[in-house]
Amino acid sequence: MFPDRTLSGPHLARLLGEWRSSGPVYLALARALRLLVLDGRLPLRTRLPGERELAEALGVSRTTATAAYAALRDEGFLASRRGAGSWTRLPADAAVPEHPRGGGEDVIDLSCAACAAPEGALGGAIEAATAELPRHLPGPGYDAAGLPVLREAIAAHLTARGVPTSAEQVLVTAGAQHAWTLLLRVLAGPGDRILTEHPTYPAALDAVRAIGARAVPVPMLADGWDLDMLAATLRQAAPRLAYLIPDHQNPTGLTMPAAGREQLVALARATRTPLVIDETIAGLDLGPFSAVPPVAALDPDGDVVITTGSMSKAFWAGLRVGWVRASPALVQRLATARMALDIASPVLEQLVAVELLRDAPAIVERQRRGARERRDVLAAAVRSTFPAWRFALPGGGLSLWIELDVPRSTAFAAIADRHGVRLAAGPRFGVDGAFERHVRIPYALPAPVLEEAVARLAVAWRAVTESGPVTPEPTAALVA
Ligand SMILES: Cc1ncc(COP(=O)(O)O)c(C=O)c1O
Repeated sequence: MFPDRTLSGPHLARLLGEWRSSGPVYLALARALRLLVLDGRLPLRTRLPGERELAEALGVSRTTATAAYAALRDEGFLASRRGAGSWTRLPADAAVPEHPRGGGEDVIDLSCAACAAPEGALGGAIEAATAELPRHLPGPGYDAAGLPVLREAIAAHLTARGVPTSAEQVLVTAGAQHAWTLLLRVLAGPGDRILTEHPTYPAALDAVRAIGARAVPVPMLADGWDLDMLAATLRQAAPRLAYLIPDHQNPTGLTMPAAGREQLVALARATRTPLVIDETIAGLDLGPFSAVPPVAALDPDGDVVITTGSMSKAFWAGLRVGWVRASPALVQRLATARMALDIASPVLEQLVAVELLRDAPAIVERQRRGARERRDVLAAAVRSTFPAWRFALPGGGLSLWIELDVPRSTAFAAIADRHGVRLAAGPRFGVDGAFERHVRIPYALPAPVLEEAVARLAVAWRAVTESGPVTPEPTAALVA
């Protein structure tokens, strides 16, 4: 297995950000590199710079670089061959997922912003779906665009949200990430530019990279979208697609106002740029809002607005059911492309989704109430424990996007891990190592667990801030 790409010393230094923490320097470096591999920012089979180059780029001794690489090699995160250098890998015997979870009974996983299944609702839906299944057994079970009954149910769900939708405008997918991947496959290709918010949902950026396209990030302002910057980027960078999350943006939790939506759609029309609007989190508005119409309501025929959505946040991510809302012609193209990937979604899960959507208003309202309570508990705990951190209470979604008082997010995530909390460091949500001053903390877990997590984070943060000098973050990195 040979490396796919080579990283320079300065590039790796940028990815590492503020990596130093307490204890031996080589261990801190090995820990930070391991975290980069585990959270996907350092792809597998990437050749790392030689030890001398790394030492120079980081301002450490060559012995430190050598010892860090040796530690990673011992743990199975680095493979080396004389003459070919060292490249990233995962330990062969450990099934380490890209976004590590668990790792011990006592680990609190704050790397994932998704809730447990709504109590009581799923059992009934599964029973009803199982009773319905025999009606589908005489057929082949392959329906690339989705079961007609689910396409109808999703169309009715979207219509109730304010976007008149017919079943042929709906493609059922295995979640919103699958929907985005399919759209990229059909509408974009290697070398294309894809406009994204900055910060944004990390897996969306991963999908862009996976097709060899390039994200063109547009920075979010503290209170919303920079529509002037968006307009300039649409005009000057001529992106193939724009991907936005106007309904409770992940990770900031911001919601785009109605006027912004109108401007956005007008811009997309003027520049002929398809907008992919990710509504995965749309159900979790925590208000108070005056109702903001979905972006697709401004373009119901789907000329420029394509919507993706999912059962994952307001119902349960384990179902793996999502959708695309687009013009019937694009739905057909996507269904055809999908046949080369996974052919169709599982019938039983689709039937479960139909049942859940029947009770959507009651289930979603309960999920919202729970999220609101947990948000307030987490916000209070963070405010009292970390008075120097800053964040705005989000109007929707499942996480706080917190500005730390010092730019040490990567070191914080590494050290928090040792204190039993798994965190997604700020740079995971950006391009080129930005957001070292931010961290996302979800409120998807029960309130007492969140309070325990904050107590552990307090100990970890003390270790971070006591571990040596802090280099000021270059402001340019924030808006790169
Ligand atoms: C904005 C956004 N889009 C998509 C997804 C993935 O959704 P799904 O589970 O439906 O693939 C997530 C999950 O966190 C998300 O936050």
